[in-house]
Amino acid sequence: MDKNRADIDEGFKRPSPSRVQISAIVILTTTGLIIFYGLTTISFHYSSTNKFCSAQCHEMIEPYQQYLKSSHYDSSRGVVADCADCHLPPGEMNKWYAKVRQGMKDTIMHFLLRPEDFDHQKWKVSAAKNIRSEACLKCHKNLFPSELQRGGLLGHKAFKRGEVKSCLNCHQNLVHMWRES
Ligand code: HEC
Ligand code: HEC
Ligand code: HEC
Repeated sequence: MDKNRADIDEGFKRPSPSRVQISAIVILTTTGLIIFYGLTTISFHYSSTNKFCSAQCHEMIEPYQQYLKSSHYDSSRGVVADCADCHLPPGEMNKWYAKVRQGMKDTIMHFLLRPEDFDHQKWKVSAAKNIRSEACLKCHKNLFPSELQRGGLLGHKAFKRGEVKSCLNCHQNLVHMWRES
C-alpha cells in the first residue's frame, strides 16, 4: 500500500464520537433552534403591533393620531385594521422580507432625523409604493358589495380588468389625513 493510501485509511480510523457526544450535539442543536425560533417569533410579533409601530417613535405620532380617527380604526362596526395589516404584504416570507428591509430603513431614519425634518407628504408617496393591493384584498374580499355606488362599481371593474394597478391609485389619503370632528 502506498503511503498516501495509508494516511487516508488512518484518517478513517479516527475514534468515532461516542453516543453521549452525539446525543449532546443533537440536544444542544435542537434546543438552540427552539430558542432561536421562539425569540425571533416573539420579536417579530412584538415589532408588528400597533404599540410598537407608533408609541416607540416620535416620527409616528402624527400618523398614529390620524389613524385613531380613521375609518380603519374608528369604524362603524368596530372592526380594526392594524398598521401591519396594510403596511406589510401577506405571506410569511414576504412579511419577513418587507419587515427587515423597512425596519432597517426606519431605524436609520429614526436616529438621523430631527422633528423639523419630518416630511410626511414625501413619506406618503414612498409608503404608498410599498403597500400592496393584496394586503387590502385580505379584508376587502368582496369589491362589489350591494351598497357600492356607481363610481365604485366602475372603478372596481377597472381594477379587476387590470386597467388600474393599485387600490391606492384611487383611494388616496385613506388613513393618514385629518378628519373633521
Ligand atoms: C387601512 C390601511 C392602513 C393602516 C391600518 C395604516 N396605514 Fe399607514 N399608510 C397607509 C397608506 C395607504 C399610506 C400611503 C399614503 C396615503 O394614501 O395616506 C400610509 C402611509 C403611512 C406613513 C407615511 C406617511 C406619513 O404620514 O408619514 C406612515 C409613517 C404610516 N402610514 C404609519 C402607520 C402606522 C404607525 C399605522 C398604525 C398605527 C398605520 N400606518 C396604519 C395605509 C394604512
Ligand atoms: C384588517 C382589515 C382591513 C384591511 C387590511 C383594509 N381594510 Fe379598508 N376597511 C376595513 C373596515 C373594517 C372598514 C370600515 C367599514 C365601515 O365601518 O364602514 C374599511 C373601510 C374602507 C374604505 C371605506 C371608508 C373610507 O375610509 O373611505 C375604503 C375605501 C377602504 N377600506 C379601502 C382599503 C384599502 C385601499 C386598503 C389597503 C391599503 C384597506 N382598505 C385595507 C377593513 C380593512
Ligand atoms: C379606479 C378607481 C378605483 C380603484 C382602483 C379601487 N377603487 Fe375602491 N372605490 C372607488 C370609488 C370611486 C368608490 C366609491 C366612492 C368612495 O366610497 O370612495 C370606491 C369605494 C370603495 C369602498 C367603499 C365602499 C363603500 O361604499 O363604503 C371600498 C371598501 C373600496 N372601494 C375598496 C377598494 C379596494 C380594497 C381596492 C383595491 C383592491 C379598490 N377599492 C380599488 C374607486 C376605486
